[in-house]
Amino acid sequence: MKVAPSVLSADFGNLQRDVEAICEAGCDFVHVDVMDGHFVPNLTIGPVVVSAIAASATKPLDIHLMVENNTFFVDLFAPLKPEYISFHIEEEKHPHRLIQKIRSLGIKPAIVLNPHTPPESIEYLLGDLDMVLLMSVNPGFGGQSFIDTVLPKAKKLSAMRDKINPACLIEVDGGVSDKNVHLLKDAGVDIVVAGSYVFNHANKKEAIESLQI
Ligand code: DX5
Ligand code: ZN
Repeated sequence: MKVAPSVLSADFGNLQRDVEAICEAGCDFVHVDVMDGHFVPNLTIGPVVVSAIAASATKPLDIHLMVENNTFFVDLFAPLKPEYISFHIEEEKHPHRLIQKIRSLGIKPAIVLNPHTPPESIEYLLGDLDMVLLMSVNPGFGGQSFIDTVLPKAKKLSAMRDKINPACLIEVDGGVSDKNVHLLKDAGVDIVVAGSYVFNHANKKEAIESLQI
């Protein structure tokens, strides 16, 4: 299991210190939550702060867009050369076009599904994706409880990807800890995002390693 700590739970007064700490502690990706105050009821960071994160990170960025105007934000963040940019299917009229655009910029495209969105909604896109991100909380805030209906959903998606595009990874975001990571692994998940679990832990290396099962 690969681990992408969410910087949303970092101390923003000491952002460089915290980004360096998770990278030194052996994380696989740095998960960056971009919220616009419209698609979700919270507002986070833009290109100025994400550039600072990119400058401190020694691991690839995994940018999670929770915004209304996906294309605008893809253009804003593409120059930072993240590994992944993921956008919500619930907010995109032309997902296939946006996937092609992200790929043409040299970035791996990913789609995010809210807890209520069925995996069948992206069946015809799966062949063009590098990753699908399943939300296990309602997007907007760190520190929420894990919604366990993501487990049967991940199993279903895993079976679909094995048939359509075995190279496509499955990531889960929200309420992840050492208590549920084994269940996620059994369900076919490849990457977990963890914010409060990693940043509230006294030892970040121990926290990250407890998820790298
Ligand atoms: C929620 C964000 C998550 C969040 C995870 O909208 O997408 O990445 O920060 O935080 P935890 O692990 O605390 O649920
Ligand atoms: Zn996220």
